[in-house]
Amino acid sequence: MAGGANERSLWGSRAGFLLAAIGSAVGLGNIWRFSYVAYSNGGGAFLLPYLVALLLAGAPIMLVEYGLGHKYHGSPPLAFRAISSKMEWAGWWMPIVATLGIMLFYAVVIGWCINFFLYSFNLGWGDNTQEFFFNNFLLIENEGTYMVKHVNWQILGATFIVWLTCWGICFKEVNHGIEKACLVFMPLLLILTTVLVVWSITLDGAAQGILLYIKPDWGKIDVFSNPEAWKVWTAAFGQTFFTLSLGFGIMITYASYLPKRSNLVGNGIFVCLADTMYSIFAGFAVFGVLGFMAASRNVSLQEVVKQGPGLAFVVYPQAINQLPVARELFGALFFFTLVLAGLSSGISLIEAFTCSITDKFGFKRGKVVSIICVAGFLGSIIFTTNIGLFVLDIVDHFINSYGLLAGGLLECVLVGWFIKTKLIRKHMNDAGGIVIMPAAWDWCVKIVTPAILLLMIVMAVVEDISKPYEGYPRWMILTFGVGALLLTLLPSVALSLAKWPDRKVSHKPEQEHILT
Ligand code: PHE
Repeated sequence: MAGGANERSLWGSRAGFLLAAIGSAVGLGNIWRFSYVAYSNGGGAFLLPYLVALLLAGAPIMLVEYGLGHKYHGSPPLAFRAISSKMEWAGWWMPIVATLGIMLFYAVVIGWCINFFLYSFNLGWGDNTQEFFFNNFLLIENEGTYMVKHVNWQILGATFIVWLTCWGICFKEVNHGIEKACLVFMPLLLILTTVLVVWSITLDGAAQGILLYIKPDWGKIDVFSNPEAWKVWTAAFGQTFFTLSLGFGIMITYASYLPKRSNLVGNGIFVCLADTMYSIFAGFAVFGVLGFMAASRNVSLQEVVKQGPGLAFVVYPQAINQLPVARELFGALFFFTLVLAGLSSGISLIEAFTCSITDKFGFKRGKVVSIICVAGFLGSIIFTTNIGLFVLDIVDHFINSYGLLAGGLLECVLVGWFIKTKLIRKHMNDAGGIVIMPAAWDWCVKIVTPAILLLMIVMAVVEDISKPYEGYPRWMILTFGVGALLLTLLPSVALSLAKWPDRKVSHKPEQEHILT
């Protein structure tokens, strides 16, 4: 296509777009991250900082991304360049961090879920799930050794399947690939989650777990009486960003496939609400099962509550072992739900980078996706080795504490200071739809949101400088954390310096209608 007019495809229906956007937002983070972050930061009281974060940073930046993608009708590099050619590198940096920073390990974690889905059928994780997960499955020998010695072939195989599936979906134009996949994945995800929630809350002891999850502990969030409370507030902002998939230009890309007349503001708010509700809902399944497990083993609830991989791959299998009936089915349901949630987010991570390349260079989508997926699979291999979990932990920390927030900050600066926010707001309001964006959004994007993001980045830097993250050796932090972040800058600058081919990008004219 290089050299000719490049026709961009569009979403086939409004529902298709919404499901794809929600599919990106709802991911592994909603199931194992939200409930734990909420619990450890004040339980029910966490909802307040979370909603404030949603209002002051999550929703405004979501709308910045929708506005940019829709107005400039393209992926992040194209949109950023349309505002200032000096900023094109940042438009590349965001999707590159998404694909290289997150997807490389996200695919491996989905691979773990596939393995555990298979283990469910004969409860193959045995009785000592802790030892099984860390030693037998992840092949970690003893803490403190960070030499690559083995690859876990099972994880590698499952990771291959994940990349292959994503390749199969992203290979086709969005309206045939991602949209069709999400039309199946998302309703299925909702049904499976509902079954899990209903099943979990009817277990003995579930009520205590759920009470712990929702009981508000106002002292934890009160910045005036509790000097540690600021951490709860930063956790809320971090969670909003991660869960809504912001700061990577994914929503810029997805919005660029919307037709001219679209209900942008309404869609943005809908996605924010749907994602939040899903997180809260899934939390009932997580804490219901934890309550059941604490009751059946007669231990305190606090003892069984864990975050992240420990929750899904150690505590949950333990709980499943103790279920009175249909243990295998419960396990299979839980891990299959994680696989689905992960895949619908994974494809969005690949899409942002793919679209950036096809927008600029006009290469065929199929070729671009194939190269990204092969390279991505090779890059994922490090996470399938015996040091994979440690590398994952470091990369995840740096991407979450800096990458996401820096991406959001760049977007705010671009929209708030390089062009008039009014311009984007007017564009969104004129695009159609009944929900009108208030003028207060301008002030959020110009001042409030970037100030908060900047503060959070500074605080993270101070913390990381004062002590190495989680006590990892400095060489590992420098290589996989700082190094990875800096390495993603090189291709970003290089790609932004490449000359833009002389091409016109256009919508298919017959598709310029309001999606219903
Ligand atoms: N939002 C996804 C989740 O909650 C993760 C994600 C982050 C996906 C950033 C894409 C981009 O798991």
